[in-house]
Amino acid sequence: MNSRSSALREEILRLKKEKNALIMAHYYTRDEIQEIADFIGDSLALARKAAETDADIIVMCGVHFMGETAKILCPDKKVLVPDVEAGCSLADSCDPEEFAQFVKDHPGYTVISYVNTSAAVKAYTDIVVTSGNARKIIDSLPLDEKIIFGPDRNLGGYINSVTGREMLLWPGACHVHDRFSVEKIIELKKEHPEAKVLVHPECRKPLQLLADKVGSTAALLDFALTDSAKEYIVVTESGILYEMRNKCPEKTFIPAPAENGECRCNECEYMKLNTLEKVASALRDEQPEILVDTEVAEKALRPIVRMLELSR
Ligand code: 13P
Ligand code: SF4
Repeated sequence: MNSRSSALREEILRLKKEKNALIMAHYYTRDEIQEIADFIGDSLALARKAAETDADIIVMCGVHFMGETAKILCPDKKVLVPDVEAGCSLADSCDPEEFAQFVKDHPGYTVISYVNTSAAVKAYTDIVVTSGNARKIIDSLPLDEKIIFGPDRNLGGYINSVTGREMLLWPGACHVHDRFSVEKIIELKKEHPEAKVLVHPECRKPLQLLADKVGSTAALLDFALTDSAKEYIVVTESGILYEMRNKCPEKTFIPAPAENGECRCNECEYMKLNTLEKVASALRDEQPEILVDTEVAEKALRPIVRMLELSR
């Protein structure tokens, strides 16, 4: 660790104590962010932790919608994001007005939205889900319930295939998960025939079909922790490898390459906008702060709370 990094870490630690702040990080953030975080998790765990913390300030190292979800759950707390430009291509693939029209065009449908959406889309939603609880929540609904699922068509397609439902899917996708290459995974499997394949459900169906385990970031981690294989090909954003290697140092984790074969394409550039410098400056200046319009926040809160209740 260089002297700049250790000075930043010390400053973050001091400011965090002084201001009673909690630093949360998603598994896709840089290693050094996960190292200094008080709590790391998937989007479900981050939402749950935000709902129960007694910190005065939450520093959400992830992407914008994660900060928004925390703010909606804790309107009295100050929610900071290290870089306000940390968006999400999947959330961006669902324009609130177009989504509202789609919902209006399908009366009688229950609207389920993935947590990777703006607060404005959540406001048109009946139940929010994450990849960690989508199946459980959808399974809890009557089989004949008509459902709109947005915005991720790959996760929605996966839930349809494992539950036998025919949810109406919004055609959105994540640019990182959508570009993993089937051919490259097959090549890797030939090189590592014993390796098990771990796939996030935001990946396309042919990749899901190659998987030994399809699941959220936390579910993939749990699988690696309890499974007996020694090697895994990991088909999701490569930041997860940090925690996988931490939790299972005796196992080998191989990052899956994307379509053009360059490993860097398995990185989410939005998640990587979170840096130690920006965490320190967020704590110092208490900026950038996430604010959500009160009316939108009130409407978006209901489906998030429903998710937390249904996934207990
Ligand atoms: P998880 O809910 O598995 O953490 O995934 C969030 C995400 O952004 C996946 O791309
Ligand atoms: Fe959004 Fe994809 Fe990045 Fe996840 S990996 S935050 S879905 S852009």
